[in-house]
Amino acid sequence: MINKPYNPEMALAYEKNARISIPTYDALFTMAQAYFRMQLGEKEASLLVVGAGGGNELSAWGPSNPNWSFTGVDISEEMLKIAKHKAAQLDIESRVTLIQGTMDDVQPSDAKFDAASCILVLHFVNDVKEKLKLLQTVKAHMKPGAPFVLVTAYGDPQAAELQDRLQVWKSFWLDAGTEPKRVQDMVEGGGIMKISFIPEKEIECLLTEAGFTHITKFYVTGLFGGWMCKAD
Ligand SMILES: C[S@@+](CC[C@H](N)C(=O)[O-])C[C@H]1O[C@@H](n2cnc3c(N)ncnc32)[C@H](O)[C@@H]1O
Repeated sequence: MINKPYNPEMALAYEKNARISIPTYDALFTMAQAYFRMQLGEKEASLLVVGAGGGNELSAWGPSNPNWSFTGVDISEEMLKIAKHKAAQLDIESRVTLIQGTMDDVQPSDAKFDAASCILVLHFVNDVKEKLKLLQTVKAHMKPGAPFVLVTAYGDPQAAELQDRLQVWKSFWLDAGTEPKRVQDMVEGGGIMKISFIPEKEIECLLTEAGFTHITKFYVTGLFGGWMCKAD
């Protein structure tokens, strides 16, 4: 149930900040769509969108794929309000179902999904066992062979490699005209580094353990990486 009113300021801030933090944000959705299209062809398909929040999967893939229907899951009532508003604006509401909660709130059903995405969500799950559980639950809701796209922050927090990418990420914000003090606070205040980073090898192991195969890294920008794979 989504009861709170739509918050246009929050929606606007999300749209803007996502594209500063990830300058290739829109291209990411184009790339994921290309993978899904290659796998799904022109047939009718049901897509599970984990962390559907701002509704950007819906707006990137909905209008251009009239045979796709979407089930969006998100813990945030505020974010789902944005997704609902976007679906209405795009006139794709009849193909969109939104569930407030986690994957545990998606009822088991015989009608498994033809594809799934989990974009910019997994780094908000701190515990590695919980990350694995989330991926396992997603997999359990997918048809065998169904494509899955995972995009998450990654890296070893102790390694220079992640610190180098952090400098690049800071540069994105400075280039966008953000006050240097604010950028410093975003890093030193712990904001960005409070999300849960794990090394990419570990992400690939989690995907394998959860039952995904054909795991390929297809995307990197700043702090974030993307993997495409298939449910076994
Ligand atoms: C950065 S937003 C990404 C939204 C969208 N996927 C996009 O790329 O624009 C992350 C979303 O994940 C949601 N979220 C965080 N943890 C979650 C969980 N365990 N289950 C479902 N949604 C979650 C948040 O509420 C938020 O809306």
